Order: sequence, then C-alpha cells, then structure tokens
Amino acid sequence: MSAGLSRCAVPVSIHCDHLIQAVTGAEADLEKSIVSNKEVFDFLESAARKYGIEFWRPGSGIIHQIVLENYAAPGMLMLGTDSHTPNAGGLGLLAIGVGGADAVDAMTGTPWELKAPQVVGIHLTGKLDGWATPKDLILHIAGKLTVRGGTGRILEYFGPGVSGQSCTGLATIANMGAEVGATTSTFPYTERMRAYLNKTGRAPVARAADEAASRGFLSADEGAEYDEVIEINLSELEPTINGPFTPDLATPLSKFGSFVKENGWKDELSAGLIGSCTNSSYEDMTSVADLARQAKAAGLTTKVPFLCTPGSEQIRATMERDKVTAALEDVGAVVLANACGPCIGQWKRDDKKDEENAILTSFNRNFKSRNDGNRLTMNFLASPTVVTAMSFAGKLSFNPATDSITLPSGKPFKFSPPTGQDLPAAGFAPGDTSYYPQPAPEPQPKTEVIISKDSQRLEVLEPFSSPFGEGSGNPRGLELPSLKVLMRVRGKCTTDHISAAGPWLKYKGHLTNISENLLITAVNDEGGDVNVAFDHDHDSSQPHTDTIPGVAKRLKARNQPWALIVDDNYGEGSAREHAALQPRFYGCAMIVARSFARIHETNLKKQGVLPVWFADKADYSRIGAGDTLETIGLADLLNGNPSATIKIKVTKRDGEIFEIPTTHTMSSDQVNWLRAGSALNYIRSQMA
Ligand code: F3S
Repeated sequence: MSAGLSRCAVPVSIHCDHLIQAVTGAEADLEKSIVSNKEVFDFLESAARKYGIEFWRPGSGIIHQIVLENYAAPGMLMLGTDSHTPNAGGLGLLAIGVGGADAVDAMTGTPWELKAPQVVGIHLTGKLDGWATPKDLILHIAGKLTVRGGTGRILEYFGPGVSGQSCTGLATIANMGAEVGATTSTFPYTERMRAYLNKTGRAPVARAADEAASRGFLSADEGAEYDEVIEINLSELEPTINGPFTPDLATPLSKFGSFVKENGWKDELSAGLIGSCTNSSYEDMTSVADLARQAKAAGLTTKVPFLCTPGSEQIRATMERDKVTAALEDVGAVVLANACGPCIGQWKRDDKKDEENAILTSFNRNFKSRNDGNRLTMNFLASPTVVTAMSFAGKLSFNPATDSITLPSGKPFKFSPPTGQDLPAAGFAPGDTSYYPQPAPEPQPKTEVIISKDSQRLEVLEPFSSPFGEGSGNPRGLELPSLKVLMRVRGKCTTDHISAAGPWLKYKGHLTNISENLLITAVNDEGGDVNVAFDHDHDSSQPHTDTIPGVAKRLKARNQPWALIVDDNYGEGSAREHAALQPRFYGCAMIVARSFARIHETNLKKQGVLPVWFADKADYSRIGAGDTLETIGLADLLNGNPSATIKIKVTKRDGEIFEIPTTHTMSSDQVNWLRAGSALNYIRSQMA
C-alpha cells in the first residue's frame, strides 16, 4: 500500500494463526476469536484480495504447517515473518524468519540483504530407535549449541542419517533450529521428501526436484567445507527433555527424574500439550494415537488435561478420517482449533494461576509465561510421544521406556515403543475446502482495504514526507533542516528499549498508538533517569520535564524535526521495524551513534532517518538535549558523491558553536531512500 504497487513482486501468503484463544475446544474457540479479532482479520483479508495474496483465514492452520504442505519446494528461498519459518527447511530449502521490514523488501522487489552466514555441518550417522524421535535430535542439539550457538549460522545436515528421517521429522528439526538462533537449517533432497511432495498433491514439484537432483543440485557439493562440523550418531540418541524456561537446558529422559528431585520440584505433571507447528505431522499424531490405543486397552485415561493443536485443516481432517482423533479423545484429549493456541499464550487456563506447576509440551519455546501467562509454570519441551506417555503417568519422574504404570487391578502396564505412519496410506483428506485460497489470485485493485476510522489496533500508514525539495519547507536545500536534540541515550538501547513489546504488541498495526511507547525504558544520560526527557523550548503551559514520547510529541506538534544522540550498538536485538518507524513518525531525522547494530541501522535508512557515527566517540558527551544540529556535506552525498563525508555543526544552548566529524554507511541505493523520505517512497517514485 505504502509503495503504491498494485501487486506484490513475489508470491505471498497471509496466515491467521496467532490470535485464536484456547478455552473449551476447536469450534467454540474459533467462533469467539473470529468475533473478537474481526477488524484484524477483515483488514488482512481485504488487503490480500486487493494485492493478489493467498489468504488463509483463521482455522485453516498454523503458517508453518500450511507452508510445508502447500508452498515449500526443494531448493527455493523463502522469507516468513515468524521465527519458525525455517520449518519449511524440512523440504530441503532455505526458509528464513525475518522482520516485517525484510518482508516488505521481498514484497516490493527491493534487494533483501543478509550478512553471509557461516555454515555448520551436522553429520548424522546411525538410526533413531525406540522412543527417540527427530524432536529428540534437535533437543539434544539445542543442549549442545545453547540458545546463541547458531547465531549468524546456517545448520546444514548431511550424512547417512538424514535419509532415514521423514520429511516432517526434518521439518521439526529445522523448526527448532530457531531455538539455537540459527539463520535457518537445511537438508539434502531425499526420497522421503519426494514421497511427501507426492502425497501433498505436488507431483510436478517432485519431478522438478528429481530432475535438479539428477544434475547434481539440491545437496552439498562434493567436498564441501563447513565452518564447523558436529558429529551425531543417531543410534546413541535417547529421548531428551528441555527446560524449564530455556530451550537449551537439555536432560536425557533417563536422568530427568533425578533432575526434578535435585531441584526440589514436585514430581507432578499438571498438563500435557501436543501439536503446534513443531510437532503436528501425521507421523506425530499416529504415533501418539498408538500410545493412546495401548493405554485405552489397559483401561487408562490421561491423568492430567491433555490438549492437542493440529497444525492444519488437512492434518485435522486426516486425523479424524483415520480415527486418530477418536483414539485421542477416547483417553481424554481435547482437540483445539487448527492454530497456535497455547503455544503463543492463547490458553485460557483457569487452574494453576500463580502456582508453581510443571507442564510438558511438544512445542518449541518455553520462556516464562509463554503458554498460560503464569511465570511459575515450568514448561518442559519433549517429543509428542514422551508428552503423551507422561500424561498418563502424571509424574515427571516417569520414564516410559523403562517404567510401568500400576493399573487399578494392581497389575503393571508398560507402553511398547510407539509406532506411527510417516504418510497416510489413503492420502491426506482436505477437510473443509473453503479454507483453501484460490491459488495465485489476480489482484482486485477496486477492493477497499478495511480499516475502521476509530480502530485502536489498525491505522493507515501515511507515507513520510521528504525533508528535501519543494514543499518540504526546508530552507537548507539538500542538507537536513536544523534539528533539535531530543536526548542523549545512555548505554544499552535495544529495539526493545526503543519499542517495548508485551501489551504494546496489539498496537503493531496502529503507529500512533504504539508510538506512545517510544524509548520508555531508555536511560537519559543527562540525569540518569528512565523515560525522562527535557523540553528546553517549552512554553509556560508546559512543564520542563516530560516522558520521552511526551517531548517527542511536543516537537512534532511544533513541526520541529529532531535528532537523538546514542551510545554503542544502538538498536541491537530483534529486527523490530517499529523501532525505526516510531522515531520517524514523531519527526526524528537523524541519529548520531557511537555505533549501530547493523539491521536496525538499515531499518532507519529505510524509514528515511539518517544514521551517522561519531568519528570520535568522545564527542558523544559534548551534545545534549536542546542543542541544535546542522549537517554539512550531506548535499554532496545526495548529489551522488559516495565518498562525501558529513560533518555536524553543533550550536549549544549557551550559544557555543563547534563542528564534529562523522562517518556513515549509506550506499547509493540508500541515499535514494533518504532523499525520497523512505525506501517505500522511493519505490513509489520509480513506479511513476
Ligand atoms: Fe505458532 Fe507456536 Fe509455531 S506460536 S507459529 S505454533 S511456534
């Protein structure tokens, strides 16, 4: 919309999976969530129609499962605005989780950039056995690499152990590569990927992949070198349980009982949850159904609430047809809507409020409060089969591989290792076909994108105006107008400090509302207080001191563009584009930093904010709130001289004047963005 394009530059799909709350069960929950989130879903649906985007409405499933079933293909490059996008790597591609700004690059045909990652080779030998599953492999790897071990790296699996895994098992492994911070995970093309493509109605894709593989593509080059190689013998792998509160705290199942005891936790499970984008494949579901049938035959039902979120309508319908759902419900399971549900905190849990308790899930994340909002809930991650077996025992110390459950008759009952089917013999059942969008729909330009005027969650994003040229009111030509310094930010300032998450997330579609959180946890270096700023030009009706967004709003109301002085590594953390949008919205035109985090620096450039670096870091403390800054040399850069340097003339509040040198990283493309007011404005101007 902002770029003025009539269609996306690449095929795009939209998925509505995060907003459906789990309360009583699939049907009622879905109905309720559709009503409470109507404005968001209507907006997404109408935008999809206008721009020719495939729209998967609420209830159709979780993005990553739908992508694996419908869009992923060996050898492709895919971006998704969710950190578990690498799930699609199960089909041998590069699927990378990005922020919204990166997705906009792809959707508008702007070059998308990524610092070339290292490649870690994970060499798999041997064969998974007994209770060990692909989930256990990635839980084990998370323990080895820790939550930071994959940062800036792609995990490429190779070796004889790869071909033994189902395509969906590989997807589980790739999914949780996100938990070690990996850029993505990938695998060579295998027979079982071909089988999956054929079963999901994509025989032509399978043929194309076969053809590419026969010419030596879709696997590592002969003699490929890796930055590091990790050896794993699958035959030695035992089931693993990770947590609580971090996905890299890995404990082998055989030691888990003593781990619980050593920590003094109650040996009590309070709920078991299976499914999610990580583990809701047909193979997962038939394996847990096998355990449910064994338990039912012994007269058991689960001891604790046992919830299941199918990953897609196709999985749900196939489970129902093949009596998997019946097997789970027979032992007490509640099947929830095809959506993220408890995995993203959409779990209306009435018991265990503010009480320490332990849950076991087949999900991928286990940060505090993630599932039920209770910081005391310990979420342990495991395979769906371990979660299921332990839900019958109700005890954390239960090891289904070795222990028995005592039946009411007094007899012991021991599970046999579960067996599931990789793919349904009768093919997948599509279920409710109204969930499936028309493939590659033509844009309908006459469609009105639905955003209600009084909405608190959505707002049309008006293009930012350029500070240069006719109509800008800037008397300084191609130099920035004179800027007031809003504040000098002290120390660490991540994108979370700039745009806090939590309750603010619901305003992500409403720039005015979310901007109220601008820098609210940042420290003002003049005084050392959090969320305090000084307005040296206030009139008699306004106090001198206000919150940071408060002063930013005053400057905006005075049409006074402003600048920030910031410390080292400004904007580190997530790629959150709101951290660049919000200052720009209030009139920020330049940020002068001791240093920038790379992604945030690019995001600032995209929104038309000039990021410059102190040539001498000591100059940081020479500038304070209320000082006036003027660029010198920017016009030279904007006129096409890539080696132009920018100086800043500082006029202190007491009248002292001096100049400081700076450096910048603006490329010639990025100079165009600045000149146009934003990258999207530039794209729009190119369309004219
Ligand atoms: Fe949804 Fe949880 Fe996956 S939030 S996308 S099911 S990680």
